[in-house]
Amino acid sequence: MNAPKQATRIERFCKTTRWFHWTFALSFLGLAGTGAALTLREAFGIGPEAADALAEAHEVLAIVLLTAPWLVGASGDTRRWLVDLAEIARFDRLDLEWLRIKATPWRSRDLPPQHKLNAGQKLNALAILALSVVLTASGVHLWREPAAFVALALHLAAFVAWLPAFGVHLFMVFVYPPTRPALRGMLRGSVSREWARQHHQSWVESEESR
Ligand code: HEM
Ligand code: HEM
Repeated sequence: MNAPKQATRIERFCKTTRWFHWTFALSFLGLAGTGAALTLREAFGIGPEAADALAEAHEVLAIVLLTAPWLVGASGDTRRWLVDLAEIARFDRLDLEWLRIKATPWRSRDLPPQHKLNAGQKLNALAILALSVVLTASGVHLWREPAAFVALALHLAAFVAWLPAFGVHLFMVFVYPPTRPALRGMLRGSVSREWARQHHQSWVESEESR
């Protein structure tokens, strides 16, 4: 008898994780945009009224960032979303080996099979988490004390530190051909099984052995 034929696609992210990513990403981008405009208000010739409107929009977006993604997670497929969230802090031998090879590119060695996220993605997610904590704590402080210098410096430093991380994220998603197929997984849920096997072999094997 023939073995059952495997689907050519594999589900990468459930709806809840996708909505979580997009509500978080869009409110974060809105905050970055309104925040950047506030910082550069003089260069852009933004008057006091427009600056007040931007600050108000920034505050509304902060409330959206601190509520919408979490409500999405809590009201959807919470178990699968939490498994995806927990993935970012799970580092094992394969992740450490991946990092060692990436850190020494002059010694050519094959990358080990990776889990659902590779070690670089996990570090990116942990960096976003740490920056979000700093931005939220300093932002809430600025809200109550608009002239607080240390809070403003921390807020701006975290914003500037996030820019290169976002640049790399966009490069991987839109420009670098080997990782571009990931976008479909975050938009529609599934990716080609062949691509997933090349980039996240350990994850595909654990899905197939369920
Ligand atoms: C999520 C919680 C956040 C809160 C509560 C918050 C709050 C604030 C407040 C109260 C201000 C001062 C606005 C004013 O000038 O009246 C501010 C400014 C700013 N925020 Fe946020 N923010 C948050 C997140 C973010 C994020 C995620 C970014 C960017 C990635 C960001 C970037 C900025 C920038 C660049 C400024 C302008 C600082 C300046 O005046 O030069 N904020 N924020
Ligand atoms: C135009 C904007 C964005 C696009 C197109 C985008 C796209 C994606 C895609 C396709 C993935 C899945 C990668 C995979 O399957 O391997 C992903 C993951 C992720 N995204 Fe985004 N994203 C955007 C903005 C953001 C923003 C603003 C943040 C946070 C501030 C963010 C945080 C993350 C994190 C933490 C992950 C998981 C770890 C990683 O893949 O690096 N994304 N994103």
